[in-house]
Amino acid sequence: MKDLSYRTPESYLEAKDYSLQNPESFWAEIAKNFEWYSPWNKVLKYDFLKPEIKWFLGGKLNITENCLDRHLITHPDQTAIIFEPNDPKDKAQYITYKELHSRVCQAANMLKANGAKKGDRICLYMPMVPELAIAVLACARIGAIHSAVFAGFSATALAARINDAECSIVLTADGGYRGNKTTPLKEITDEALAHCTSVKRTIVLQHTGLKVQWNKMDLWWHDEIAKVNDDCAAEIMDSEDPLFILYTSGSTGKPKGMVHTCGGYMVYTAYSFQNVFQYQKGDVYWCTADIGWITGHSYIVYGPLAVGATTLMFEGVPSYPDFGRFWEVCAKHKVNQFYTAPTAIRALQKHPVTLVDKHDLSSLKVLGSVGEPINEEAWHWYDDHVGKNNCPIVDTWWQTETGGILISSLAGVTPQKPTYATLPMPGIQAVLLDNEGNEIESSAEGILAIKYPWPSIARTIWGDHERYKNVYFSAYPGYYFPGDGALRDGDGNYRITGRVDDVVIVSGHNLGTAPIENALNEHQLVVESAVVGFPHDVKGNALHAFVITNAAIDNPDILVAELRELVAKTIGPIAKPDRIQVVSGLPKTRSGKIMRRILRKLAAREYDNLGDVSTLLNPEVIEEIKQNS
Ligand code: WTA
Repeated sequence: MKDLSYRTPESYLEAKDYSLQNPESFWAEIAKNFEWYSPWNKVLKYDFLKPEIKWFLGGKLNITENCLDRHLITHPDQTAIIFEPNDPKDKAQYITYKELHSRVCQAANMLKANGAKKGDRICLYMPMVPELAIAVLACARIGAIHSAVFAGFSATALAARINDAECSIVLTADGGYRGNKTTPLKEITDEALAHCTSVKRTIVLQHTGLKVQWNKMDLWWHDEIAKVNDDCAAEIMDSEDPLFILYTSGSTGKPKGMVHTCGGYMVYTAYSFQNVFQYQKGDVYWCTADIGWITGHSYIVYGPLAVGATTLMFEGVPSYPDFGRFWEVCAKHKVNQFYTAPTAIRALQKHPVTLVDKHDLSSLKVLGSVGEPINEEAWHWYDDHVGKNNCPIVDTWWQTETGGILISSLAGVTPQKPTYATLPMPGIQAVLLDNEGNEIESSAEGILAIKYPWPSIARTIWGDHERYKNVYFSAYPGYYFPGDGALRDGDGNYRITGRVDDVVIVSGHNLGTAPIENALNEHQLVVESAVVGFPHDVKGNALHAFVITNAAIDNPDILVAELRELVAKTIGPIAKPDRIQVVSGLPKTRSGKIMRRILRKLAAREYDNLGDVSTLLNPEVIEEIKQNS
């Protein structure tokens, strides 16, 4: 495969110009570098108003042919995946492209033997072990649609996702490690499956040795895999066939199953991976995300493997056995590109810098950041102590919905600017809008929007195209609306200022406030609740829940503990509010709408900045909330 990256500012500028003048030819040129069984007959068909977006129409491919088979000709013995276990005392694994190909084909045959076929949905609820990447690719091999659910989600959240996609098979494990904790994944799956009817089989990977209950439809992964060989032809997929569903939070209680398709997603993840990180042959690349999130899909599995890279998977956490674990792993595997989240950097920054300095980080060439705005202090700590002021930092802005990085510098090729994601990638037409939807020129603050499709944009929400239209294409007709605000400087650099909707990013995880409120409202003492985000020095944002109860509360501590547990059970521990405040009322407009803007200020304790509260239905609650906060 040709090197897809622009290695100089000149070639970058040339590409950018070309992409604006001839967007279709620009993408067609890039797409030609992949293996297609038959080429497309039309590059793009789109209508943002409908909305309908299709790329490489009529093209036939299988993404695993591109991620695996073609590398067997050029570099079969190169390591594809390095697996670093949770516990440093356990051995790392090195899986070559040849071996990965064989294991994916075998897993694909295992799925087929259990009835899976093209178009079926398969849920992956697994720890960060190589078998998760293998499962992802095995689904893609046979054209089954994978729906990975982050292993930190609760049984209720898992059940909702399985039911929404009507998955027929669940792949899970007995358990997964996270630092000194073991998550009982099979047990949680069992609990979820009590509320699901579509699932016919559960295939369980033995990983931690945790004792599990056994049900009629359960099968051990090792038993099933032993029955099949590793010969599995790739299913021929249409460019626009779904590749996977991945759920993300929205403004209502129901998560949105974003649907990504085969052709465009492959082209864009490979292109963006190669360009942003400036990956070079032989480099070791490490993204610390979990494959349960989009970052793991695009930049642990598909993007890196599509270009034949060596990608590192880590099961553990940055704090175990100590806060130097990331740097130990970087030194051990001589990592060249390191990609993590600001929340991890902020957590590590609180510990002695000797934990960084004692590891040899001289292999590092590029550092990356993703998931939330990176604050100035964290940026500089990352630059000084990890990069030793010698590694470009790519601050990559994108979303589950965009499939790949849309705004970022290209490491060492285009300028960086602390706290700025900087410039849109070639091929991405970003704009700023004012509240009326007019494009704003030059330096300004506004609403970020994209005015032309790119290949990896999600095509729909599973089972709910109307919602897809309403959330992303209705507020500003003619544009894709991501839900983020941004600031643009005189050089066209973008700084993402945060969400402009009811999604709060806590430790890099997108959390809708609505599902958390729904969970709180389930408690028999709670009448109404409102959840907002407030600034937090490690998590970026934390959650403040205001709850109204139907009786006087003698012991608020007990209620608070019960409510936190309820949220953990309904969504997952990541969604537990930091603060829960019992109040007698919530600030409301005369039409009864909760004034979240005011609640956000109250939660942030910005009391001088509340604005006019006199028009509220119940201005007196403001004082009360301030008093007992
Ligand atoms: C936020 C993660 C500032 C943003 C890939 C977006 C960012 C949401 C950045 C998507 C960044 C992501 N700077 N904010 N570099 N990257 N975000 O779907 O609000 O988990 O809309 O995708 O994260 O989160 P998601």
